[in-house]
Amino acid sequence: MSDHPMEPLRSVMRDAFRAQQALAIEEEAAEAKAAGVTVADLRKRREDEKRAQEAEAERERVIGDRLRALASLPLTAADCEAIARGQHVDTRPVSHVQRWLADESAPAFLVLLGGVGTGKTYATGLAALEHGGTRGYLKGRSVEFCRAADLGKRADPWRADLEAGVRPLNLDASLLILDDLGAERDADARFHEGLFRLVDARLDRRTIITANLAKADIRARYGERIADRLNHVGRAVEIGGKSLRRQGAGL
Ligand SMILES: Nc1ncnc2c1ncn2[C@@H]1O[C@H](COP(=O)(O)OP(=O)(O)OP(=O)(O)O)[C@@H](O)[C@H]1O
Ligand SMILES: [Mg+2]
Repeated sequence: MSDHPMEPLRSVMRDAFRAQQALAIEEEAAEAKAAGVTVADLRKRREDEKRAQEAEAERERVIGDRLRALASLPLTAADCEAIARGQHVDTRPVSHVQRWLADESAPAFLVLLGGVGTGKTYATGLAALEHGGTRGYLKGRSVEFCRAADLGKRADPWRADLEAGVRPLNLDASLLILDDLGAERDADARFHEGLFRLVDARLDRRTIITANLAKADIRARYGERIADRLNHVGRAVEIGGKSLRRQGAGL
């Protein structure tokens, strides 16, 4: 036996540790017996439970990332939750967006035209996630979302806009979504200039435009230069059908 001055204390601690281990082994054996399984099976069951809990925690972490990525889109919390969990319905806008994203040689612009509530904005949420999220959580991918009503000031913010918290539009994002074209109230020179700059800057980059307009309205409202470019590098699809929104209030 060592004559180190701490030896008596160490010895007491060693004994206590061994006693604790023996107790844990006894408890484990008793638990296995009560459950009618071997100790090895009990340990495997616990390992499996731990792994399942870890996998669940990882799934929830990914859902959290996705919800944050969808936070800037004009969708309800329930819609975001459904999109983040992959519980969406495969509507026409969804299948157009998915086909367009999956096709490497697809035209740069996808223009979704259709009536209110037909699922256009919802489908752009899905695109934002599949492309990499608005916070760029997939390396090298970034998604910029802009409501058409904000386009003028975001494309060319004045000092007062910046002071009011307007975020300048990132025309370099790898996916840009311009939502609800046509909903801008006063399409002033700043708006038209912003739209032209957006289209012209993104002739080679993925861009989705949604609008409540018909194909012919695009040329009539935004002019030849924009319509001609969109024809050259875009695909426009008209989404028919009724609103998918609940019609609860009967308005
Ligand atoms: N793919 C989908 N799966 C499940 N629900 C959907 C889907 N698409 C749309 N919805 C439902 O329909 C509602 C309206 O969809 P969304 O906001 O995308 O319409 P919209 O075409 O953008 O309409 P608006 O032109 O008025 O902006 C959503 O809030 C959601 O409840
Ligand atoms: Mg919309």
